[in-house]
Amino acid sequence: MQGTLPHESMTAMTQPDAVPAATLPLGYRVVDLPPSRHREVVTLDTWAFPATVGEEALAALPSPLTWERARGVETDDGELVAMHGSYPFSHFPVPGARTPVSGLTWVGVHPAHRRRGLLRAMIHDHVQRSLARGEAVSALFAAEPAIYGRFGYGLAAYDVRLTVPRGAALRPVPGAERVRVRLERVEERHGELVQELHAAVDRPGWATRETPELRRAYLDDPEAFREGAEALRIAVAERDGRPVGYAFFRRKSAWETAGPRGTVRVRDVVVEDAAVARALWGVLLDLDLMATTEAWVLQDDPLLHLLVDLRSAEPRLTDNVWVRLLDVPAALASRRYATEVDVVLAVRDDLLPANARHWRLRGGPDGAVVDATDAPADLELDVRELGAAYLGGSSLAALAAAGLVTEARPGSLARAATAFGWPVAPGCSWVF
Ligand SMILES: CC(C)(COP(=O)(O)OP(=O)(O)OC[C@H]1O[C@@H](n2cnc3c(N)ncnc32)[C@H](O)[C@@H]1OP(=O)(O)O)[C@@H](O)C(=O)NCCC(=O)NCCS
Repeated sequence: MQGTLPHESMTAMTQPDAVPAATLPLGYRVVDLPPSRHREVVTLDTWAFPATVGEEALAALPSPLTWERARGVETDDGELVAMHGSYPFSHFPVPGARTPVSGLTWVGVHPAHRRRGLLRAMIHDHVQRSLARGEAVSALFAAEPAIYGRFGYGLAAYDVRLTVPRGAALRPVPGAERVRVRLERVEERHGELVQELHAAVDRPGWATRETPELRRAYLDDPEAFREGAEALRIAVAERDGRPVGYAFFRRKSAWETAGPRGTVRVRDVVVEDAAVARALWGVLLDLDLMATTEAWVLQDDPLLHLLVDLRSAEPRLTDNVWVRLLDVPAALASRRYATEVDVVLAVRDDLLPANARHWRLRGGPDGAVVDATDAPADLELDVRELGAAYLGGSSLAALAAAGLVTEARPGSLARAATAFGWPVAPGCSWVF
C-alpha cells in the first residue's frame, strides 16, 4: 500500500543551529532569482555547461525552473556567477510510501569563479531551505559523479545503457499481440497521457514531472538540440483502446557503403505490464534503415530479461539518482521496510551535526519509528551510505563488503540489509 506516512518520529532538525550557516567567500552574496533574471541565468548556464546553441535560442526556450526555489550568487557589483535551484517533488516515491523531496538542479558556477567554495555555500543554502520547507530528503542527478559524495549524497540508483542491434530477438510474452503501438510526432496533446502514465508508476526514486514548468519544458523539442536526428516521436501503446504505455524516440540516419546504419535513441519508457513492454520494444528494436537502438533502462527493466542475447546489447552500468538524507530520523521514518527491523545506527555527518548520533530504527512493512538513543551501535556508517541504501538500490551488505559500513553487533548487518532492500529497483526515467 502506498501512502504518505505520518512523521511521528523525532526530527534531527528541531535543535537551533541544526544547519551550520553558509560561509561565502568575501565579495559574494546570495540572492533570490526571480524570473526577470532568466536571461542572466541562461548566460551563466552556457558558461557552466558549454552549448553549441546560441544564447538567444536558449533564452527562447521555456524554463523548467521553479523560480521561487532558484537562488543565485552574485558579485558585489551584481554579476550572477553561480546558481542552484530545486524541484518540489512533493510525492517522491520511496520504498512503500511517498514523501516530499527537494530535487537539487541547475547547479552551476562560472568557470572564472570556481573552486572558491561557491558550491559548498550553495549546498548549505539548499539544505537549510529544503529543511525549512519540511523536505527531509534531497535527490539529484550528478553531472560528474565525483562532486556530491563529499556533501553526503549517496549513489542510490543505477541504470543500464544499452546499444541493441536491429532485430534483436526477444522472448515471447502472452498478450503482447493484443497491444497496438501507434507511432506519432510528439505534440502538446501528448502531455496529459504521458504525465498520467508516468505518475502512475510505483517505483522508489521515480520522480515525476510535478510542475507545469517541468511538463512544458519536457515536451519542448527545439531543432538546435536534435544533433542531426529527426523531431521527437512517441510510441503509444494501447490495449482495448486505452493507453497502457509509451516511449519517446528519435531516429538518426547514417549511410555507409555497406548500407543504412541509422540509430534510434529511446528515452523515458513507461509500461503498464510485461505484454506492453514486449510490444513496445518489439517495435523500437526493429525500425527500417536503423542498425542499432540506444536506450537506458533501470536495473530490473523487463527488456534485460526479454533480450535473448543480452551480451549483444553491450550493457553498461552507470549512476542514476543520488540521495542525501537531510533529516535522518524523519527520512528513515518516511519509508517502509521489507521485513521487521530493530537496529541502532551510529551515523556520521560532517555537514549536518544534528544527524551525527545513534538512531534506533524500528520498522517494517507497515511503517517505522526512529528515536535518538544512547544504546550501543549495531551498524556504523556515514550519512552518504545511508543515502545510498535509502531507496533499496544499494545493499547495506554490499556497502559493508566495500568497507563503508561497519557491523558492530554480529548478525545485525544481514537483518538490516534485508529490511532496507526492496523488490522494485529504484531509479528515474529522466534526468532532472
Ligand atoms: C561543479 C561545480 C558546481 C563546482 O563548483 P565550485 O564552486 O568550483 O565548487 P567548490 O569550490 O565549492 O568546491 C567544493 C568541493 O568540491 C570539489 N569539487 C568541485 N567540483 C568538482 C568536480 N567537478 N569534481 C570533483 N570535485 C569537485 C572541490 O575540489 C571542493 O573540494 P574540497 O571540499 O575537498 O575542497 C562547478 O565547477 C561547475 O559549475 N561545473 C560545471 C557544471 C556542473 O558540473 N555542474 C554540476 C551539475 S550537477
